[in-house]
Amino acid sequence: MTSKLLSPLSATLLDCQKLPNHVAVMMDGNGRWAKKRGLPRNAGHRQGAKMLKEIVRCCKDWGIQSLTVYAFSTENWGRPTTEVEFLMVLFERMLCKELDEMHSEGVCIRFIGDLTQLPKSLQREIQKAMDATANNQSVFLNVAINYGSRQEILNTCRHLAQKVQCGELLPEKIDEHLFSQSLYTAGIEDPDLLIRTSGEMRLSNFLLWQIAYTEIYVTDTLWPDFNREEFYRAIIAYGQRDRRFGKI
Ligand code: IPE
Ligand code: IPE
Ligand code: MG
Repeated sequence: MTSKLLSPLSATLLDCQKLPNHVAVMMDGNGRWAKKRGLPRNAGHRQGAKMLKEIVRCCKDWGIQSLTVYAFSTENWGRPTTEVEFLMVLFERMLCKELDEMHSEGVCIRFIGDLTQLPKSLQREIQKAMDATANNQSVFLNVAINYGSRQEILNTCRHLAQKVQCGELLPEKIDEHLFSQSLYTAGIEDPDLLIRTSGEMRLSNFLLWQIAYTEIYVTDTLWPDFNREEFYRAIIAYGQRDRRFGKI
């Protein structure tokens, strides 16, 4: 990983900031980035994958514990087959290529989403990455692949309903905690900050339950341009938010 440190002044400023523990990112705008340059969309995806590495490094440098990134939604299957296939191969290659370095950096890689629908070879790389990095603690990187929040919530309802039906669970025992612990994100604290790149003001089926009280930061910067400085800006903006959680 290449690391370009911010100026000492910015680093000091970060020290005084309220840092988010968990940042979620909707990595959007790869296609537009490529189009602006007269390149095929896939070139944008390739560049986007590189930026993820940089952002993981920032989390480690700045002490942000968890990063959850939206890599592929349940709705993204609706894209042309060639693009979907390219993305699946890109994910697999990235995992293969970056695993050793991520592991040596102490990154724990986890995946959220319905992984059973992914190509078998990608599923194998995913399992390998999760097994290899399971005990790492420097940064928890959660990658959402074939993730859809509505599907996640429905699966949870079905799972809990089955438990009630077979007498293992009383309906009144279903509370926010139990529900959260039955989602893909079980054991992961809710995000403090959600970043969406490329200016879209929508959630696109991402973490609908988990972001109930998350601070939202939208930037017009396209994901392949979202570098260390851009991330820093988002963290500073977060530090200036007044999180009230309904209180005064
Ligand atoms: C995000 O970039 C990557 C994925 C959704 C896989 P897009 O591919 O959505 O880029 P735009 O929004 O078309 O620019
Ligand atoms: C959201 O981006 C999904 C990911 C970033 C992986 P999209 O590009 O799919 O979202 P929409 O279609 O603009 O809502
Ligand atoms: Mg998009």
